[in-house]
Amino acid sequence: TNTQHQYRSESALGQNPLSCRTLSTRRELYERDFPVYKQPVEVGCFSLDSERRFFNDSRQMRYYVEPDRNPNFNLRDGYRDRFIKRDDSVKERLDHILRWIVANKSKINPTGAAASPRALEVDFVTWRGHLTKLLTTPYETREGWLLAVTRFRGTFYISEVETEAARRERENRTERHEEMMYWGYKFEQYTCADNTHSLPDPGGVVNTNEAFCTVVQTRLADHRLLFSGEVDCRDKDPKAPAAPACYVELKTSAEICTPKQRSNFHRFKLLKWWAQSFLPGVPRVVAGFRDQEGVVVSVETFHISKISHLIKNEYNCWKPTVCMNFCCDFLSFVKRVVTEDSPRVVYLFSWDPYKDVTYSAHRDSQYCFLPHWYVEEMTR
Ligand code: A3P
Ligand code: MG
Ligand code: MG
Repeated sequence: TNTQHQYRSESALGQNPLSCRTLSTRRELYERDFPVYKQPVEVGCFSLDSERRFFNDSRQMRYYVEPDRNPNFNLRDGYRDRFIKRDDSVKERLDHILRWIVANKSKINPTGAAASPRALEVDFVTWRGHLTKLLTTPYETREGWLLAVTRFRGTFYISEVETEAARRERENRTERHEEMMYWGYKFEQYTCADNTHSLPDPGGVVNTNEAFCTVVQTRLADHRLLFSGEVDCRDKDPKAPAAPACYVELKTSAEICTPKQRSNFHRFKLLKWWAQSFLPGVPRVVAGFRDQEGVVVSVETFHISKISHLIKNEYNCWKPTVCMNFCCDFLSFVKRVVTEDSPRVVYLFSWDPYKDVTYSAHRDSQYCFLPHWYVEEMTR
């Protein structure tokens, strides 16, 4: 079986296995045993306030308040007059995570405290959202991606670059689409309180600059990962299990009325929901199903560990093992390709649906993303 694994991973490397210049995303190549994925451990957290300022604490944590099963939440309320939208043309890259690392170096290198300039004891640093994109790549048919990778002191930093297509889409969103993007945040406001003894305040302002982010460490096969992801809220019971097991992901989705809609929900939505929450070890998603007018008509909890059973009867459906094995092989590919260790060098990995992953290398380019303050702090 070991030979089989080696054979499969080699055949994923372009037409000529010896060249190793591309990586295939074909699903069949990744249908093997589920790789080792260690239970993610929360090593810290940080908050971004209403002006997107970083704080090395949990001040933006919110608490889940279970809504009525049929709540009639109007998600359109407040869009015109009580909405402050984050400027998504500002590219923050890995900056917030790097600030967290600088403030918490001792938590990542528990044994390296005495050694002077120690390298980070992880192979990869990135956002959870970038890993979610990797997990769903073998099933993605619409949107490609660009991932910039810099190797610095032995650690690979992965930061997304907006594709031309994504930029065009962002700059040309319809008014309807803009409003629908608000609905997800409005649902959060209906179901989250600011502290354990208060209630949600649907009359307040929705400000999408605000975020609470968890930082977790885990391992995928032989890849040691450190990543951060936004967490919507936590169980407000003080006896709830420790983070990340107490976290709750909130989602909205169109009401399901036909078998076709149910099938699409299983095949496309649940893939994204599963990938996003499985990575940091968030155990459940609370979904608000909305009608055409943006009113949440029902609420349902999905346990991440049960999603793979839910989808088993779907024809030609996604498989968690394909997602994880592709991600694992992509990270191995990055380790083989990204050989020069320098904050001035970026390897740009590029993928479009139905194509292989390719890459190019760039020195002192527009793609450089490790800030000087970080490089200086970690070189001392
Ligand atoms: P829904 O997913 O419930 O629609 P998250 O669910 O990851 O916590 O994100 C909160 C909300 O941000 C989403 O709620 C959605 O409204 C918006 N959002 C997140 N990612 C988006 C994307 N790629 N495009 C458009 N809207 C997005
Ligand atoms: Mg969120
Ligand atoms: Mg959410």
